[in-house]
Amino acid sequence: EDELHRRISVAKSKLGRKLVILGHHYQREEVIKFADFLGDSYGLSKIASEQKEADFIVFCGVHFMAEAAKILARPNQRVFHPDLTAGCPMADMAELDDVETAWIELAKITDIKKVIPIAYMNTTAELKAFCGANGGLICTSSNAQSAFDWAFARGEKIFFFPDEHLGRNTARKKGIEREKISIWNNVACHCEPEKGEAISRTQLNSEDCFAPLAMTKILLWPGFCHVHTYFTAMHVKEARKKYPDCKIIVHPECREDVVLASDENASTEGICKFVAAAPQGATIVVGTEINLVSRLVHENPDKNVVPLARSLCPNMFKISLQDICWMVESLAKGEYVNEVIVPNDVSKSARIALDRMLTV
Ligand code: 13P
Ligand code: SF4
Repeated sequence: EDELHRRISVAKSKLGRKLVILGHHYQREEVIKFADFLGDSYGLSKIASEQKEADFIVFCGVHFMAEAAKILARPNQRVFHPDLTAGCPMADMAELDDVETAWIELAKITDIKKVIPIAYMNTTAELKAFCGANGGLICTSSNAQSAFDWAFARGEKIFFFPDEHLGRNTARKKGIEREKISIWNNVACHCEPEKGEAISRTQLNSEDCFAPLAMTKILLWPGFCHVHTYFTAMHVKEARKKYPDCKIIVHPECREDVVLASDENASTEGICKFVAAAPQGATIVVGTEINLVSRLVHENPDKNVVPLARSLCPNMFKISLQDICWMVESLAKGEYVNEVIVPNDVSKSARIALDRMLTV
């Protein structure tokens, strides 16, 4: 590890201001040490869009984040990802073909001009482009409510993908009644029974919601994050029993019952701020990825920070010091490995959707 530290430092100083390393909050501690900027997925996309001097941006996070940085970076800037296999299973739950099929089916049963697509940042560049091309925008967990406002100023229904839980939790915060929220498959089956079979290929992973399309305001894609759906209301109950005076904060990718049983929910950056603002001696139970919770434990020795349960994102964990060393040493030698490429046409439409988010 000492040798890796030394070699990364040497390569980094050789590259100087030509290189910027961005790190998501879920990265391992040893990786974060080398990040010039640390943040949530919204903050890092904004930072990527503001880099003026850097020729190279190395993104330590999962692939969709590096793609978003590439789309938002200047045309001459090159973006690299230390491990191209570090993807996000939730992002892969909404494939372009399936979303396009749903859109076409939806257009047959409702006025599609009044439907605004919103893609969570956790999507491929192609889906971001789909949103840009169809009058929609991107959101992250830190600006989803504003994105909903933006959409309702322009349409009557929101088609939100891929995270059912963030969609549902945001809709509730906006005061949208439960009966007006539906899973896409259910709406389709209800409105056009004969078409139900063809479009219900995506697996239904949630209970009830079965609203007639006319009254539906939010159409949700049935995607989920396995790291956050691991947390249950029972974990929250047990934490309250063990720490009666605690505050519990979770990420809005958690199931609705977990969010409702907790005191707060926020993006990763929001969780960091919540813990930092808590009084000395407070017990804060945190329901999100374990590497972030571990860091919060070390950074807040005057508080009792406790994980709601241990849940690790195996993809975020893939990025190692060895990867960073290989990456920066290659760049210092003028070798471009693991470059993130987004085709121009995709990038152009995806940028429209991302810019709308940044404006909102
Ligand atoms: P944030 O936008 O809160 O950083 O979340 C990203 C993510 O992937 C959470 O699982
Ligand atoms: Fe994807 Fe979940 Fe990992 Fe976030 S924590 S990158 S949503 S799998």
